[in-house]
Amino acid sequence: MKIDELKKKAALTAIKYIKENSIVGIGTGSTVSYFIKALSTIKKKILGVISSSISSSEKIKKYGLKILDLNKVFSPIIYVDGADEINEKMEMIKGGGAALTKEKIIAASASQFICIIDETKQVKTLGNFPLPIEIIPMSYSFIKNKIIKLGGIPKLRKNLITDNGNIIIDVYGLKILNPSILEEKINSFPGVVTVGLFSKIKADIVIIGTQSGVEVLFNKKNKNLKLMT
Ligand code: A5P
Repeated sequence: MKIDELKKKAALTAIKYIKENSIVGIGTGSTVSYFIKALSTIKKKILGVISSSISSSEKIKKYGLKILDLNKVFSPIIYVDGADEINEKMEMIKGGGAALTKEKIIAASASQFICIIDETKQVKTLGNFPLPIEIIPMSYSFIKNKIIKLGGIPKLRKNLITDNGNIIIDVYGLKILNPSILEEKINSFPGVVTVGLFSKIKADIVIIGTQSGVEVLFNKKNKNLKLMT
């Protein structure tokens, strides 16, 4: 089965976790694209969606879903997004689609984060996928040097300006043994808007499209369930 089909399976399963009258936060990426299409089939049951990027907003509008302003929403939000890598603790690298800042804002505002992935995104140690960092353009040289001191190889993502008018550095060569400490450290550099490490804000539910079905993992305090559907 092709990877895209695994992404689709995960995205379709996520619909089961969307409750009536909820507000749905929507991430960015190819897996989320399948989710947007599926969500449009139950659009009358939800209050609306919060979008994490211009590219997702375009797809959301195409399917006739109502986009809400995060600043005007007071009900709990269920956030659904993909990931570039995820470990056993449900810590993630995100930002391959350059939408990491708004993704982190919505994830932080949400009461639940449902991560939808294909099985290739699961890793033991984060870092094989280059870690994206959105930065203010004038801080480029400064942050590049800081990253080299941390042992990473920074590369400017070419021909890209984020939805927020910033640039992205992708950091290669990191073996991220302690995501939480690294997230804090990189966040402390002036000029960093967002680092694509999601270890403080993690997934609550991970839906994995696999060759043999769909696996659903729950990350709840004192509760670790593993279901196959
Ligand atoms: C977008 O900025 C990322 O965080 C995405 O969640 C990630 O790149 C996953 O993308 P795919 O669903 O296309 O694999």
